[in-house]
Parts: sequence; C-alpha cells; structure tokens
Amino acid sequence: MSRLGTETAFEVLNKARALERQGRSVVHLEIGEPDFDTPSNVVEAGVAALRQGWTHYGPSAGLPELRQAIADYVGETRGVNVTSDEVVVVPGGKPIIFFTILALIDEGDEVIYPNPGFPIYESMIHYVGGRGVPIRLREERDFSLDANQLASLICDRTKLIILNSPQNPTGGVLDRRDIEQIARVIGDRNVMILSDEIYSRLLFDGARHFSIMSVPGMQERTILLDGFSKTYAMTGWRMGYGVMRADLAAQITRLMTNSNSCTASFTQIAGIEAIRGDQSSVDHMRDEFQRRRDVFVAGLNRIKGFSCRMPKGAFYVFPNITLTGWKSKPLADALLEQAGVAALSGTSFGEFGEGYLRFSVANSLENLQQALQRIDQWAKQNL
Ligand SMILES: Cc1ncc(COP(=O)(O)O)c(C=O)c1O
Repeated sequence: MSRLGTETAFEVLNKARALERQGRSVVHLEIGEPDFDTPSNVVEAGVAALRQGWTHYGPSAGLPELRQAIADYVGETRGVNVTSDEVVVVPGGKPIIFFTILALIDEGDEVIYPNPGFPIYESMIHYVGGRGVPIRLREERDFSLDANQLASLICDRTKLIILNSPQNPTGGVLDRRDIEQIARVIGDRNVMILSDEIYSRLLFDGARHFSIMSVPGMQERTILLDGFSKTYAMTGWRMGYGVMRADLAAQITRLMTNSNSCTASFTQIAGIEAIRGDQSSVDHMRDEFQRRRDVFVAGLNRIKGFSCRMPKGAFYVFPNITLTGWKSKPLADALLEQAGVAALSGTSFGEFGEGYLRFSVANSLENLQQALQRIDQWAKQNL
C-alpha cells in the first residue's frame, strides 16, 4: 500500500473547505470538474430510467445498446472500425487506467508516462511493481511530447506507453503530426499504448482531436480511454469506457466482474442519451472554457512573477512561477492560506511539475476575476 499514490486535488479541496468552515472565503480553482450541470436531456433520461426500473445489475462490460453507441461514436470520431465487443463500460475513466495497468504490467515492466501528468498513472505503475519511466513535457514545446525523447526511452522492457491529449495538467495537445511521429517511433514494437482521451471534446481555437488509434497499424495496440465526466459534466455519475481489441476487452471485463460487477444501469441509459442526443451543450461548455481561459491567462501574465502559455485544450491553466522565487508547493499553500485561492502545486503531477501551478478554469468568469485580483494583490505584497 505504501507504493500507492493519490490525487492531491481532493486533499486541497478538503483543506480549502476547512478554511471556509472557519469563515474564510476561498475561490476554488483546484478541482478538475466542469462547474456546469449535466445537460437536462441527460438528467431526464437518467430519471426516466430509474422510473422504468433500470435499477438492477447489468452485463459487466456494459449494456449492449450503450456499447454499440460508443463503438459507433469512437468509430466515427477516430475514423476506424469499432465493434461493440471492443468496448468496456466502467464507472469513470479512472478504472480503465487501474485495470489496464493491473492487467498488463508485471513486476519490473517499464511504463513510459507523461510528467507532469495525471498522478494516477504513476501511482498505479508503482503499485503493481512496474518501473515508471517519466517523459518530461516541456513548456517550450507547448507541453507536447518529444518523439525523439520517447525513442530514447523505449527499450526491451517497455510494455506500455501512456499518452494523454488534451493533457492534464498542462493543457498541451498532441496534434496529428506529433501523433504520427510518435507512431513512427513505436514502429512495429510489441508495446501497448494507453491513450487517455478523456478531454477529446475540449479542444480550443477550432482544433480537431487526433487519436493514435487512427494511425494505420496502431488500433490493435491501443487501449483508448474516454468517458462522460468531462464532456457531459457527469463526474458524479461515474461512467467512462475503454476501447481495445476484443480479447483484451474480455480480460478487462473479468476485472469489472471481480470489482464492480457492472456500471450503474440507469447511468448507462443516460449515457446513451448523452452520446446520441443533442450535442449543443458540449459546444457551449467548450466555448465558455475557452473564454475563461483567455481571460485567466491574460490576467496571470500581468501578475509579477507569473508567465503563462495559452493551453490548447482541457480546462487547466499551468503558469510558470519560477520568477516569483517560490517553489510550487509553498506558493500553492500561501495562495490558499493568505490569498484565498485554491490551486494545485505543479509537483502534484510529478517531479517535472516543479516551477508551475495548476489552476482549473472550471469556475465562473466572476470568480476567476476575483482569483486574479487576489493573487495580484498577494504578489504585490509578498514578492
Ligand atoms: C487525464 C485524466 N484521465 C482520467 C481522468 C478520470 O476521469 P473520471 O472522473 O471519469 O474517472 C481524469 C480526471 O480528472 C483526468 O484528468
């Protein structure tokens, strides 16, 4: 158990809540979830499903109609052929990370993963006794991944490569050229790829998502992770999915049977509506995140010691704070305790997150502006 890591966002949230209980005001920019409500057509489908009795166990891999809807959606958006037996529905995106690493990684196997990156990758790799090989995402490359560096890290022990685009925490995006270079570097090696595409619908400035699954020859080595949490503001419903070769899907399904039995049935009925129904709320949320990103990045760049690139996707802003002269963790603590702004230290996302903070812009423009004011004032007094 000592090898298992955690996700700091929940700890910072608890600390912020404790300060609020003492009467302090905190602007919450720590947690990575949309502040929007689940679209009403999806809520209504869930309520109707409860009334219709979708309150029982279902198949471990997911309801056939939802698996088919996901197969159609992923087939269409990634330009590949996907059948429903290649889809496993699970309670959130996270279980796909958990199950994939549990299923594929033995003691001593190497896994290459982005750093800074979603902390659950490293946590799970270490938990199962694998060797984590971080690949550093660099600010000067807009936090995309350097294929040449990837080439230097792959060896005979490499079992899995984890990609995440759009990326948490940097907002970096792997475009088509990046992905094709990565695929070239992987070549025909017997290496699996876990492609975490949970933010695939949150790309800004009209950019289009490109998946490694779309590169000829890569589909059968790719485990695609996507879900409903971020796209449809459904974090609390707990529903995500993996798309992979049918023989692998059967193994992940066995892990589902052993752990959760199935994803909640009424949730899955709502999921069918989310995927097949009106998509205008998805576009609305993305446009709104883009507007907030623009305001927040511009504001941060006016604050002493902060410099921030424009993230291309997801809803995070990842400023460089080295010119403040502070380390990331003490700065995040000070901003929470003294300025009333909850953010995460870049080091919550791995060693190469030092020198950065992560702010989530999943909050109202008004609150974001208040946070900027508070940070600015704090910087003027303390730097
Ligand atoms: C990169 C990444 N992958 C997966 C997840 C997990 O999402 P879910 O809430 O659907 O389990 C998150 C959530 O923050 C994430 O940022």
